[in-house]
Amino acid sequence: EGGDVAAGEKEFRKCKACHMIQSADGEDIVKGGKTGPNLWNIVGRPAGSQEDFKYSDALLALNETGEVWTEEDLAAYVTDPNAFVQEKTGDSSAKTKMTFKLRKGQADIAAYLASVSPD
Ligand code: HEM
Repeated sequence: EGGDVAAGEKEFRKCKACHMIQSADGEDIVKGGKTGPNLWNIVGRPAGSQEDFKYSDALLALNETGEVWTEEDLAAYVTDPNAFVQEKTGDSSAKTKMTFKLRKGQADIAAYLASVSPD
């Protein structure tokens, strides 16, 4: 909400070492790594729900809370993944497998991800 899609698309270069964006019909929107899950259609998707990805216990616990990704929550998550999951699950020892933190442009990244999330 309020983010700049074009700026977010540029910013996404920081994510693609670990994440691809590939549509359901196999189109590579962004070719990227497989360390993290495919981020196509992430807005509106339950957290930790990509079928073929092996999530940490922390992300599975986040899924159990009923978390569904919104732009606002994506922006908070990428700022500090562990802090976000700890707050949502109430488990202060929860630890995700995502070691990266984004310190600026979070709203832009969220707007970009929304732009590749057909409803
Ligand atoms: C998980 C976004 C950068 C590795 C996730 C999830 C999101 C996300 C939304 C949760 C997906 C889901 O619930 O299905 C981003 C964005 C990035 C970024 C927007 C850039 C700003 C990175 C980088 C790495 C990474 C650079 C690797 C160094 C992972 C891993 C997971 C993950 C391993 C799974 C976490 C777990 O199971 O605990 N990422 N990510 N991400 N990401 Fe990232």
